[in-house]
Amino acid sequence: MKGIVLAGGRATRLHPVTLTVPKQLLPIYDKPMIYYPLSTLMLAGVRDVLVISSPADLPGFQRLLGDGSALGMSISYAAQPEPRGAADALLIGARHVAGEQIALVLGDNVFHGAGLSGLLRRHASDIDGCVLFGHRKQRSDLAVTGLCFFANDAVEIARQLRPPVRGELEISDVNRVFAEQGRARLVELGAGHVWLDAGTHEELVEAGEFVRTLERRQGVRVGCIEEVALRMGFIDRDECRRLGEALSRTGYGEYVRSIAEPDRVLQAAGARGHA
Ligand code: TTP
Repeated sequence: MKGIVLAGGRATRLHPVTLTVPKQLLPIYDKPMIYYPLSTLMLAGVRDVLVISSPADLPGFQRLLGDGSALGMSISYAAQPEPRGAADALLIGARHVAGEQIALVLGDNVFHGAGLSGLLRRHASDIDGCVLFGHRKQRSDLAVTGLCFFANDAVEIARQLRPPVRGELEISDVNRVFAEQGRARLVELGAGHVWLDAGTHEELVEAGEFVRTLERRQGVRVGCIEEVALRMGFIDRDECRRLGEALSRTGYGEYVRSIAEPDRVLQAAGARGHA
């Protein structure tokens, strides 16, 4: 399964902050926003990820994540010249996903919860059409989150729906076609799962507060890509320790170094229930 992180868009709701900095590189507490959706793909078992952003913003993501080899992954990049909607990613990423199933995540979405990895991997191994993940926000019906899995013919569906030059091609357009074919599944993330998006100033602060509280109270990290890489077997302990040492002046780096110790890894995996 190939992954796509959508890290473009206009981010108008975060102006003026995002006039010069892409939204997905803003911090959610102690790490860049893109770490969170990227770690979600990794928890689903995805090792090969395409990051899509505007031509002007791509270099920042490249500087941050490189080719992914430090995480035992392959990370590549593609430009979206205009923010023509999330489903446009399927067209931009068509060559990248070449014949494989696709996990698409919006670059401003945060997922957290016990057993998330197992849940995602279970559904990743059984895709016919699309798998959407829903979550109940206060008082609302089931809202569709920014994570979905697709069979490869999603690319062909997106091609046929190709938007007019100034229009947007939304993921919901693609999902509607799968639903009409009886090939759409909606999986509810239960009450033990948290889903946040960080598209407004309020949401950005709330997401940061959530992560800070959890990390300080429970001593775990949310969206720690080095930890997920270790847990998923993408890197070994030595590689993890070196990544931590490179960030040694931060609590984050110390944490990455500490989970490379054998005892801590087992404790953390059990406590968080990701596996
Ligand atoms: P949105 O939050 O819907 O849009 P936006 O990021 O442009 O923000 P705003 O509404 O404030 O103007 O986008 C969700 C995610 O998808 C976000 O990470 C940006 C990304 N995206 C793209 O990469 N390309 C696109 O064409 C669109 C519409 C969004």
